[in-house]
Amino acid sequence: MSGVNDIRSTFLDYFKTNGHEIVPSSPLVPRNDPTLMFTNAGMVQFKNVFTGLEQRPYRTASTAQKCVRAGGKHNDLDNVGYTARHHTFFEMLGNFSFGDYFKERAIELAWNLITKEFGLDAKRLLVTVYHTDDEAFNLWKKIAGLSDEKIIRIPTSDNFWAMGDTGPCGPCSEIFYDHGDHIWGGPPGSPEEDGDRFIEIWNLVFMQYEQLTKEERVDLPRPSIDTGMGLERVAAVLQGKHDNYDIDLFRALIEASEEATGVRAEGERRASHRVIADHLRSSAFLIADGVLPSNEGRGYVLRRIMRRAMRHAQLLGAKEPLIWKLLPALVQQMGRAYPELARAEALISETLKLEETRFRKTLERGLSLLSDATTTLGKGDMLDGETAFKLYDTYGFPLDLTQDALRAREIGVDLAGFTDAMERQKAEARSHWAGSGDKATETIWFELKEKHGATEFLGYDTETAEGVIQAIVRDGAAVASASAGDKVQIVVNQTPFYGESGGQMGDTGIISSDHAKVEITDTQKKGEGLFVHSGTVVEGSLKADEAIALTVDHARRSRLRANHSATHLLHEALREVLGTHVAQKGSLVAPERLRFDVSHPKPITAEELKVVEDMANEIVLQNAPVTTRLMSVDDAIAEGAMALFGEKYGDEVRVVAMGQGVRGTKAGKPYSIELCGGTHVAATGQIGIVRILSESAVGAGVRRIEAVTGENAREYLAEQDERLKTLASSLKVQPADVLSRVEALMDERRKLERELADAKRKLAMGGGQGGSTDAAREVAGVKFLGKAVTGVDPKDLKGLADDGKSSIGSGVVTLIGVSDDGKASAVVAVTPDLTARFSAVDLVRIASAALGGKGGGGRPDMAQAGGPDGSKADEAIEAVAAALAS
Ligand code: ALA
Repeated sequence: MSGVNDIRSTFLDYFKTNGHEIVPSSPLVPRNDPTLMFTNAGMVQFKNVFTGLEQRPYRTASTAQKCVRAGGKHNDLDNVGYTARHHTFFEMLGNFSFGDYFKERAIELAWNLITKEFGLDAKRLLVTVYHTDDEAFNLWKKIAGLSDEKIIRIPTSDNFWAMGDTGPCGPCSEIFYDHGDHIWGGPPGSPEEDGDRFIEIWNLVFMQYEQLTKEERVDLPRPSIDTGMGLERVAAVLQGKHDNYDIDLFRALIEASEEATGVRAEGERRASHRVIADHLRSSAFLIADGVLPSNEGRGYVLRRIMRRAMRHAQLLGAKEPLIWKLLPALVQQMGRAYPELARAEALISETLKLEETRFRKTLERGLSLLSDATTTLGKGDMLDGETAFKLYDTYGFPLDLTQDALRAREIGVDLAGFTDAMERQKAEARSHWAGSGDKATETIWFELKEKHGATEFLGYDTETAEGVIQAIVRDGAAVASASAGDKVQIVVNQTPFYGESGGQMGDTGIISSDHAKVEITDTQKKGEGLFVHSGTVVEGSLKADEAIALTVDHARRSRLRANHSATHLLHEALREVLGTHVAQKGSLVAPERLRFDVSHPKPITAEELKVVEDMANEIVLQNAPVTTRLMSVDDAIAEGAMALFGEKYGDEVRVVAMGQGVRGTKAGKPYSIELCGGTHVAATGQIGIVRILSESAVGAGVRRIEAVTGENAREYLAEQDERLKTLASSLKVQPADVLSRVEALMDERRKLERELADAKRKLAMGGGQGGSTDAAREVAGVKFLGKAVTGVDPKDLKGLADDGKSSIGSGVVTLIGVSDDGKASAVVAVTPDLTARFSAVDLVRIASAALGGKGGGGRPDMAQAGGPDGSKADEAIEAVAAALAS
């Protein structure tokens, strides 16, 4: 029996031996496909290689790919915990041929691996082929020696695999394993095929065609191979288990949760342990790849997964956050195969703990509300949508958590009622729409948007355009016209001015007509899609409905473009240097500099920053073209998109790519690919140079980088250079020798400081060796040395007092140091033979009182105090002397 880690490496080694390039798993957040929410198959990272858009230095490859199927169209979340083979996270093992081998070799490689390397009993295996694929049928017969009834022809789309409505596709052939007649079920194609006896373990796709449109399909120039084998399934087969959750990896995770909760994974608690084990995997891997819990998009899917697991932790009686405690067990199981997991361990741990701590506050109250609302309900009943919405809105219960909580009692949720409640809340919010500023002014944008629709943005392609004024707003109200001196906000049907978003600041420039000129100082987006130009009319007058010309400040926009493109280069370099857990957590793209925040649990070192800066500048020097692709949301849905960012990126999904990687995991591959609505340089050379100025913390787990580019970087470097030259000339050395000169000066200074302190002390005590005894007198038979000194650091007073003690041999020393601001410090020292008679502490308190202070402390032989009034130094000395005499 082999463990999951052995099976994974046996698979990859096998394909390596057979000439395949072993390619690391791509991140769970696809970087080359804006339409997918999460990577859900091995072929996702090779999508453009199959279509010929992207070239790689190899023609065959093999991967173990991290996949998530939760949220969007492929959503297994609801079933996880209750079945033998559903997961939100799983690993897909695959081999790929990009126009190299085709059906025959693919079948040969697959058959040899499972029967020879894995040693599966051929008698337990059967395969399916697409009903018209005689070639595959005959190859299976020839290579595997399978009898006709073990090669099942399937006429449905089950055996024709397509990425979407368009793209590479082809017939496929699936390998099934027969778990034995003690389990109910029939072979594929039979009426009992949904049973659990015959389990698909490997899908071989013969990528043969490209679907161009719904009607038109052409042959691919290079027929290719894409295969996918679920690691957890094959591990179950190889370990003699029927249930994926019984394989070694899951056993280890479930044992960890049994141990942490003290509850055995038996009976009705079994599902909870499985949910926790599965969801721990997806949550940890998603966080490692830069997703953090939030209320929208990917972040919300993660939150749903985490909260679902947390409810099950609560079911198991966990009184404290639990999931994070299981992370070390996961890292131990999977950290070697996926080093990003170990690298991001701290971030994952913190994120899990924080989310669970927060959610526990409302979880119990929500569950008790749910229990009250369902006391009278039974099997087949529905929870009303209003309550489900309240749980969602007030208690943070994702809908699927509520559904999951009612599942055991077979109670459903009125989904239409839930959607209605959600819509009502949105309408309510709309009616109170106020935005962030003055309510009246903000409401106006909402009304204008309803009336005119969104502004069309032309600024990706042009910096000048013509438009028609739709509204002029002055002092928060729409006006018919404006004239010189008026401060106005202008809405136009279309504009090249970029409205501040995605961190990039809004454009400035000029709006003009034959008879008017307006200086625009800012452009903001309001009311979801309205571009609002703010500025002052400097000449003539203008009115609503007239045509005007819009001209963006070209120099400023050029700097914004360079800075925005530079953030993409830095982002990619940071991911490469620090790991794929690095995700953008905010940015500011201003004309003169850029700021970029990333998730990373510790400071970024100077060495790391240097590599990041070097990598970014490598791409700048390539002068590589920057490409953008746009897809409408509708097209993306038609292509079978599982999830979209429509709500975030407007009507179009925009993908910005730049550069060719030269080192690390990006070597030879497209360098930066990001979803982005911002404006960018045409080629990376226009960035000029990227210079990082600083790195700092902005919150738990978030680091901030500030940088400059182009002219700003050049000016910054020139200033630094100038400073260095001035420094060198005042030090009278060459710039290269400044450092050694400064070091020599510092040494000299330290030496002089030491000498000066010595000299001051000597001076203070009245000159050379033994001189201080001159000041000593007898008081009531005791030698008393009292002295007021200036220019001595208070911390040196004790040393001086020691000197005094040794010079008088036996007696009492009192030193009052007076500082430049007139305050005093007092030290009293008593030689050991006299400490039985006099306490330095008592005496220094007397001195302190004379100096207008109180208190003081130390030992009987040496005590120190302060006082505000240094002019009373002599009185203080005399007060101590008097105390000796009394
Ligand atoms: N891409 C194929 C699948 O996901 C192998 O099944």
